[in-house]
Amino acid sequence: MPAHIIDGKAFSAGLRARLADEVKGLAGRGLVPGLAVILVGEDPASQVYVRSKERMAREAGMASTTYRLPAETTQAELDALIGRLNADEAVHGILVQLPLPAGLDPHRVVEAIDPAKDVDGLHPVSVGNLASGAPALVPCTPKGCMMLLRDVLGDLTGARALVVGRSNLMGKPMGQLLLAANCTVTVAHSRTRDLAEECRRADILVAAAGRPLMVKGDWIKPGATVIDVGINRLPPEPGQEKGRLVGDVDFDAAKEVAGAITPVPGGVGPMTIACLLDNTVEAACRMAG
Ligand code: GUN
Repeated sequence: MPAHIIDGKAFSAGLRARLADEVKGLAGRGLVPGLAVILVGEDPASQVYVRSKERMAREAGMASTTYRLPAETTQAELDALIGRLNADEAVHGILVQLPLPAGLDPHRVVEAIDPAKDVDGLHPVSVGNLASGAPALVPCTPKGCMMLLRDVLGDLTGARALVVGRSNLMGKPMGQLLLAANCTVTVAHSRTRDLAEECRRADILVAAAGRPLMVKGDWIKPGATVIDVGINRLPPEPGQEKGRLVGDVDFDAAKEVAGAITPVPGGVGPMTIACLLDNTVEAACRMAG
């Protein structure tokens, strides 16, 4: 039987509608969640992401300000802006869009953000809170993946989970979240010896390697739940202007084997911004006490 196709677009729209209601309620108490997004340089993909973040924050009734800085911005200038936003009581969430232009140190930039406003969940304090089981602001994409998994599977206890990829924004926090949900977790990466075998053991497979169509259909355990975090554009076919968008999983083959699977596009992608808004509301509520 072909897999259940997990509709991240619909889930994200539902979450954003619930957040908009919550924001209305907070406005009645005089609290307007405020998000500040900093974009340094002209990376075209980052410009698209940042515009969507601003639009969706406003649609949910939040205050959203984007700071667009030139690529030549110095570390000291960026530190000064973050310092001002840390001190601004109307700002509850601060996000510095990555990657940063060469010459700016992403670790130093993230560490300059007040952990209470770290809606990306990248600050060492947030990372430590997540790892030690304390309440934490959690990186948006893995948070969205967990919401989809819980929606499909309910309780994840005892499941064998494989995360392919070990980035700070995705693979590492995803492993922590699955562990906190009582899964038996393996984190695989480019140096893993037999990735196909690791995949075949997984009840839950989260692919976040950034390599198009890497996970083959015959790597999937029958009935497994597959979450594809990859967004890759293939080279254009002859006569086409743009190549096809694909994930890290060979979707057409995998959907014949998996129990449930996210498509690309329309799976994990739409969850990231919804979870950024969720984190901003969470940060605002915590700060308001
Ligand atoms: N660039 C791509 N994804 C992200 C994200 O989730 N947060 C930040 N800050 N930058 C990104």
